[in-house]
Amino acid sequence: MKFFIDTANLAQIKEAQALGILDGVTTNPSLMAKEGITGDQNVINHYKAICSLVDGDVSAEVIATDFENMVKEGEILAALDPKIVVKVPMIKDGIKAIKWFTDNGIRTNCTLIFSAGQAILAAKAGATYVSPFIGRIDDSSWDGMELISQIRHIYDVQGFKSQILAASIRNALHIVKAAEAGADVCTCPLDSILGLLKHPLTDIGLAKFLEDAKKM
Ligand code: E4P
Repeated sequence: MKFFIDTANLAQIKEAQALGILDGVTTNPSLMAKEGITGDQNVINHYKAICSLVDGDVSAEVIATDFENMVKEGEILAALDPKIVVKVPMIKDGIKAIKWFTDNGIRTNCTLIFSAGQAILAAKAGATYVSPFIGRIDDSSWDGMELISQIRHIYDVQGFKSQILAASIRNALHIVKAAEAGADVCTCPLDSILGLLKHPLTDIGLAKFLEDAKKM
């Protein structure tokens, strides 16, 4: 499973990259706004800065919701850097735009996926990545991980090539469960990635080894 970091924060991206386990970055308009990035040129500069920090794919989301403008925006984003993957919402014009990008060699990430039906449409249109939002589904008392398993099964049975990108990750257990359910990628906040490190028996064991090392 590939690890993406789900942030537009450059310091956090650097920290994850330094761990040596980072395969890419996902952003969205909320994450960009959280970093105070405003204005077209600043947004473009920020995507370029992110691309310069990582080796893998960087998802950059279109703001337009109609086909023509999604295509215009997506072409501008894709031209910024070969690492850019154009993120497109799961709406009717979004599916048309994903098909257009696919036919024109531009990679896409279909975002805001909440059902298996949406995941089938995105795959049919040729999306490179399809992003089911685990945490938001759990928040509404449905089982987000069940959706990952269902999409995995459908893609395997049907031979769809889109990669399942588990998004809206809230904690380290979500990452473990997404791996178990067969997600191809998990995009996570830095805290959730670092949460994978933690186990009290590791801390107790290390303290004992270091104590005993003094007797060596
Ligand atoms: C990433 O591609 C998604 O936009 C993101 O994971 C959504 O996460 P949230 O539900 O925590 O906002």
